[in-house]
Parts: sequence; C-alpha cells; structure tokens
Amino acid sequence: MPAKQDQFELQAADFGEEFVWGVSTAAFQIEGAHNLHNKGTSIWDEFTAKKGNTYKDQHAEEACDFYNRYKEDILLMKRMNIGHFRFSLSWTRLLPNGTGELNALGVEFYDKVIDFCLECGIEPWVTLYHWDLPLALEKKGGWANRKIVEWFEEYARVCANSFGDRVKNWMVLNEPMVFTGAGYFLGVHAPGKKGLGNFLPAVHHAVLCQAAGGRILRKWVAGANIGTTFSCSQISPYRNTAKDHRAAEKADAMLNRLFIEPLLGMGYPMDSVPVLKRMQEYILPGDLERSVFNFDFIGLQNYTREKVKHSYFVPYLRAKIVKASKRKVKTTLMDWEVYPASIYNMIKKFNSYKAIGKIIITENGAAFEDVYRQGKIVDTDRLHYLQSYIRQIHRAKQEGCRVDGYFVWTFTDNFEWAEGYYPRFGLVYVDFSSQKRTVKLSGKWYSKFLKG
Ligand code: NOJ
Repeated sequence: MPAKQDQFELQAADFGEEFVWGVSTAAFQIEGAHNLHNKGTSIWDEFTAKKGNTYKDQHAEEACDFYNRYKEDILLMKRMNIGHFRFSLSWTRLLPNGTGELNALGVEFYDKVIDFCLECGIEPWVTLYHWDLPLALEKKGGWANRKIVEWFEEYARVCANSFGDRVKNWMVLNEPMVFTGAGYFLGVHAPGKKGLGNFLPAVHHAVLCQAAGGRILRKWVAGANIGTTFSCSQISPYRNTAKDHRAAEKADAMLNRLFIEPLLGMGYPMDSVPVLKRMQEYILPGDLERSVFNFDFIGLQNYTREKVKHSYFVPYLRAKIVKASKRKVKTTLMDWEVYPASIYNMIKKFNSYKAIGKIIITENGAAFEDVYRQGKIVDTDRLHYLQSYIRQIHRAKQEGCRVDGYFVWTFTDNFEWAEGYYPRFGLVYVDFSSQKRTVKLSGKWYSKFLKG
C-alpha cells in the first residue's frame, strides 16, 4: 500500500519556531572530483583505491558529483523547503598536504557553495572533519600521532579564517568513535589500521582535537554556534543475565560515553572498561583539562539500538553485539534494527549530562530498497522510519528534554563508505550513471512537513 503522506499527525511547527530542520552530508560521500584543482589525496582516496576494501571495490571518485552540481542540489533543497544544510569540508581540498600551503581553488569551491546557500536562504552547518584525513598526515601516523593536535589546529584556523565571516554553525568532529574504532581498531575503514596500539592513542588525540577545534573556532569566528557530533545507540542486554548486563554496560561506555565524558571533564569511563587504563601511556599532565570545552550544542547521531551479550571470545571487552538479522526484528539494509525509541532514550540519556547546552540530532535516516512505481520512487519504509523517529523526538521534547534540531541523513543517495553505493539513504534518488536526481516519496513528504 502506498503510504498516505497526510496521515502523519505532526508538523514542523509543533517543535517550536527555534527548532532547526535540515539535511546532512559529508564531503567524501558526495563531492567526487577526487583529484581536481590541486586536491590532495586523503586516506579514503587511498583506501577505496585498494581492492577488497569496499563493496564491489566501489570508490567515490565521482560520487554524486556535488563538486560540479552543487547549484542544482542546493536549488533542489530550496524547492524542498530545507532551510539548513550540513556538509563537511575536505581537508585535502584546502590543504593538499595536510599543513602548509593553502589551495586557493579549494577555498574558492567552498566560497561558492556557502555563498550560494546564503543566496538561496539556506543556512550552512559546517563539519571540519568527516573522516577524510590527508594521506600525507597518515604517513606520519595520522590520529595515532600526537602531532595531529597541531595539524588539526592549523586546519581549523584555516577554515575559520576562510569561511567564518559567513558560516556561523560549526561542528568539529563527526562521530569520533566510528573513525577511531572502524579505522584504527577494526581496520574496516580508512586507514585500515588495527589493534589497541593504534586505537587508544587515536582516541586520546581525537578527544584533544575535539576541544582544541572548539577553542580555535571560538577564537576566530565571531558569534559562532559551535558543536561536535557523536554516534550513539541505545544498548540493551541480549538476555536478562548479570553477564549480559555487564557486557551491555561496557559496550555503552565504549560506544556512547568514551568521547563525551572527557569533554565534560568527567575523564574516560575506565571503571566500566578497565582496558582503557592503558591510555595512561598517552595522557600527559594537563590533558584532562585540555579535553574540556564548553560547546554550544552537541550533535547526536542515532539510527538504531544494539543488543549486546557476554562473550569470552571478544578480547578486552568480552562483549559482543548480536546482529539485528539474528534477532528477528525489522532491519534496514545496513542490518540495523528499526527501533525508534532508541532516539528518545538517547535524548534522555544525553539530557542527564547537565553540562550540555543544546542538543541537535545532526543525523538520522535509513537505507532501504527503493521501490519504483510508474516512474516514482515510493520509499514507504524510509518515510515510516523518519516519521516514527521524529515522533519520538517530539515525545522527548514534550517531556521537557532539550532537543533543538533535526537533520536527515541524507539529502541525495551517496557513497556509504565501505558499503559503497548499495545502501541508499537519500531523500532524493541518484541515478549514478546519469547523475539524475529524483525526489523520493520521503523527500516529498519531508518538504511538505517543513512547509507546515
Ligand atoms: C554516520 C556517518 O556520519 C555518515 O557518514 C554515514 O553515511 C551515516 N552515519 C550512515 O551510516
């Protein structure tokens, strides 16, 4: 049955006038133009060029060709009543070697994107780092080298000084748990490194950069609204046993607390996860104070919940995620459980940190098989997913929780990292052979919802 768009009982206005509604993207996933106009090589350019790293060896050399089609896409946002656009800057487009010489053509590209957004009445929300580290810096150890703090400060200063006159909304890091965990512990994302010896220093240095980036933006951008983003998922024990409860607590500490608690001056959750004590080796005097920054907002990114069980076979953590497909629940193409109450529970959990200012959902969305019917893309699953999660956000807000904005992941279908182009998350369908865009049913609904 095609969904009746009008059945949804809420309107954007029900969240209040100040509530921000938008769409989220990231440079590497949409821009393409991977080596145009002096752009340097990033770890993701290198990782995707190697066989076996991504689904069907797909890469993002062209992706959605946003580099050439940004006007078309921003105009489409405008037509869809989308007032806030979150995108990231490609470090290697601006500083091809990571530090040093500034690439004027890179600055020009983002100048054009920002100016065109403003011309269209769309507010830009800029992420400094969405995973595409310059390869030149990775060759010196990347996130595992403490020097990253200086490199990152230089990059943040360049961004602030180049765009801070027009961009007021900034985010420092995107999902540090994912880029350190998948990139430096599991080796399934760029740069494909593994083990605690890479992971633990990468975590600590990302925590330092998180706060350092906030300080640079505060110093150089007048009137800035500064945040940083975290992946988060409700974690539940698989069985109601003491061991599974303990496993869930550890997984929660790793996945939901590791980056926010040092930021709030609470230190690392070492009591819950003893192996984190090995981080002492990388923590210098003064670092715990240096990890603190008072962000204007925290970006929460929520998609699913995880069920976790005890396992002797998982080193250090003894906790294992039970895949959604093994639990007979409704899943997305990422094998993530559709569980709308997770976003409600995470908003509540983050509200319990009293030191946090505003909370913005900087990502939420779903990959499903898109269904074509008479030339239209009837993505009822995605539509229902978005509606059910938005309903839970409203519930949290009604109960008095702080939650101040929502960005759908994502605007157009794009390059989903190691999964390639297979999982489509977009409100807008992209035919990657012609680059033609077609607004899906979910996109039409969102646009109508925003119009109110
Ligand atoms: C998290 C990441 O920030 C984004 O890059 C990714 O595509 C989505 N979530 C979906 O997995």
